[in-house]
Amino acid sequence: MRKSQPSCFVFILVLTLCFFYSRGALSSILDDTASSEDFIGCLQSNSNNGTVISQLVYTPDNSSFQSIWEARVNNLRFIKPSTPRPSVIVTPADETQIQTVLYCTKKHRYEIRIRSGGHDFEALSSSAAVPFVMLDLVNMKSIDVDVGNRTAWVQAGALLGEVYYSISQKTNALYFPAGICPTVGVGGYLSGGGYGNLVRKYGTAADNVVDARFLDVNGNILDRKSMGEDLFWALRGGGASSFGIVLAWKLQLVPVPEIVTVFRVNITLEENATDILYKYQYVAPNIHPDLLIRVQISSENIGNTSKKTVRMSFEGLYLGKIEALLPLMDKSFPELKVRREICEEMTMVQSSLVLGDQGLTSSTPTEVLANQSAIARLWNYKHKSDYVRTPIPKSGLRKIWRKLFENDGSEIMIMYPFGGKMEEYSDTVIPYPHRAGVLYQLLKGVNLGDQTSDTTTVSLRRIDWVRGFDKFLEPYVSKNPREAYVNYIDLDLGVGSDTYEEASVWGERYWKRDNFKKLIRIKAKVDPENFFRHPQSIPVFSTSRSSF
Ligand SMILES: Cc1cc2nc3c(=O)[nH]c(=O)nc-3n(C[C@H](O)[C@H](O)[C@H](O)COP(=O)(O)OP(=O)(O)OC[C@H]3O[C@@H](n4cnc5c(N)ncnc54)[C@H](O)[C@@H]3O)c2cc1C
Ligand SMILES: *[C@@H]1O[C@H](CO)[C@@H](O)[C@H](O)[C@H]1NC(C)=O
Ligand SMILES: *[C@@H]1O[C@H](CO)[C@@H](O)[C@H](O)[C@H]1NC(C)=O
Ligand SMILES: *[C@@H]1O[C@H](CO)[C@@H](O)[C@H](O)[C@H]1NC(C)=O
Ligand SMILES: *[C@@H]1O[C@H](CO)[C@@H](O)[C@H](O)[C@H]1NC(C)=O
Ligand SMILES: *[C@@H]1O[C@H](CO)[C@@H](O)[C@H](O)[C@H]1NC(C)=O
Ligand SMILES: *[C@@H]1O[C@H](CO)[C@@H](O)[C@H](O)[C@H]1NC(C)=O
Ligand SMILES: *[C@@H]1O[C@H](CO)[C@@H](O)[C@H](O)[C@H]1NC(C)=O
Repeated sequence: MRKSQPSCFVFILVLTLCFFYSRGALSSILDDTASSEDFIGCLQSNSNNGTVISQLVYTPDNSSFQSIWEARVNNLRFIKPSTPRPSVIVTPADETQIQTVLYCTKKHRYEIRIRSGGHDFEALSSSAAVPFVMLDLVNMKSIDVDVGNRTAWVQAGALLGEVYYSISQKTNALYFPAGICPTVGVGGYLSGGGYGNLVRKYGTAADNVVDARFLDVNGNILDRKSMGEDLFWALRGGGASSFGIVLAWKLQLVPVPEIVTVFRVNITLEENATDILYKYQYVAPNIHPDLLIRVQISSENIGNTSKKTVRMSFEGLYLGKIEALLPLMDKSFPELKVRREICEEMTMVQSSLVLGDQGLTSSTPTEVLANQSAIARLWNYKHKSDYVRTPIPKSGLRKIWRKLFENDGSEIMIMYPFGGKMEEYSDTVIPYPHRAGVLYQLLKGVNLGDQTSDTTTVSLRRIDWVRGFDKFLEPYVSKNPREAYVNYIDLDLGVGSDTYEEASVWGERYWKRDNFKKLIRIKAKVDPENFFRHPQSIPVFSTSRSSF
């Protein structure tokens, strides 16, 4: 009788738990605690050196688990106790170890999340509502630049700043046309398309990827030739995490002048900013492709008063010297009043420091780009994307300013002009479809950096504001579909994926119909069991529905 008490107690406990948790949830919890040891055992017994691999495995019991997890959660909003952590983090250092991680993850029925630079807007690379293994590619960051062939092989865990720095160590006359922020990872960035300061001259970053090394769900390592053109197409803009694990990319480097010019101008409403921005919409997408001018916009109080204004910060990168830039500006956009004194000549890699949104300057040593810990982590936000294909009328701009004034100055709008080379590609060359006819990409968001969490009254009010602002902008942005950028992933767009109709609500916004359907067909071939998934991954439909 006595002896049976503990098991009886356990039995009642289990019954109680069954009462409170759905069966699925309970079995997940039990699997989780039961199998992380088994998982590590699996890694050890399938590695040629178990000691080595166990130094690359972290469970919540390891003292460094939290710091490893946090290190690349870029959106600080998600570093809070309620964000679900991985059951296990593995930081493999070679391709064979990644194969082992995939094998053991499947064997022990975890889901997997793949993390490169960790800049996912919704932290989907670091978190999941189910027990999961986080494959952290932080140790996969070799970069091999071949100046003669104008190519570079980069492992998927390398960061954009590391790529820029490595190229600049060999030459200032070549570059890779990638993104603005140096801490973004090539793994996620290239697999969603990727725009940057050379987009008007050379297209998206994914347009300039020429090969890849890729681990499929069956554990095979493939390159462009062995994976075939369809899968290679899907990986460059379709979101690689729906298909498998990118191990490395081969990049096509592009020629740049050894000296480029950067300028910045701030203008407020009192300085006719509305008129200037109105004109900007015509000029920036049509001006010479050697020049890219982006604008960051937010509201602020005028001095000490309660009266508000809008500040626009124009930032330009010109692929050439000041003396060639000035006449170009005089001819096309004199209203911006770009004078010699506000221009600075520098190398392309220095421009990545200056325009990298990190408060760095041209006198910051470029080594900083290769040293992520030297770069401050600033981002705590909710952001949403759009594309604008018709200039917003002045009356619309004025309505937008009034809407900004309803928020508290924590908001940001960033206009990023396309045109140039982007006009030359069809929407289906790669999955990234926001091409010809796009005047500019429009990001809008709110900063929560001064709040203790994203659930304070102030945070909730701001997030609510940006969602309302998104609705408010509908008449001014692209339609049918209203386009969105998958690298600015936004779960507000919907997560339904049982049928094409449900999934198209968000999928056609990221990829448009033809590309989305093609991605679904490719997914069904390469990962029919839907092992590689997240809330907005390319869906697999049950066979009865897959006839479309
Ligand atoms: C501060 C900041 C600045 C940005 N600037 C730009 C910009 O200038 N231009 C631009 O186009 N975008 C920009 N972005 C968006 C950026 O491209 C995306 O957030 C991108 O997904 C980040 O890639 P990552 O590797 O850093 O992120 P991660 O969070 O590591 O990954 C993002 C997604 O890609 C998947 N993934 C990562 N690595 C792999 C892999 N090896 N194989 C398969 N799937 C993988 C992840 O599972 C996840 O689904 C910026 C984002 C931030 C936060
Ligand atoms: C495993 O690697 C460790 C560290 O590199 C080394 O000391 C050890 O000898 C290796 N063991 C075997 C069996 O190769
Ligand atoms: C984490 O803890 C596990 C279990 O104690 C151990 O095997 C592993 O080596 C630890 N990881 C690291 C990186 O120390
Ligand atoms: C290009 O790459 C090949 C193979 O790596 C190499 O043999 C060749 O020398 C390179 N060409 C130049 C011009 O560097
Ligand atoms: C523009 O305004 C921003 C925000 O107030 C400020 O940080 C920056 O220094 C200003 N730049 C110039 C060139 O005045
Ligand atoms: C704003 O525009 C008006 C009318 O075109 C002009 O008179 C005024 O000088 C401009 N102000 C500035 C600061 O450029
Ligand atoms: C701003 O307001 C503060 C306090 O209300 C006052 O002391 C200060 O003089 C004001 N500054 C200006 C520039 O008006
Ligand atoms: C990276 O930056 C940090 C912080 O500035 C510094 O302490 C460290 O020495 C740097 N590492 C390298 C390799 O330069």
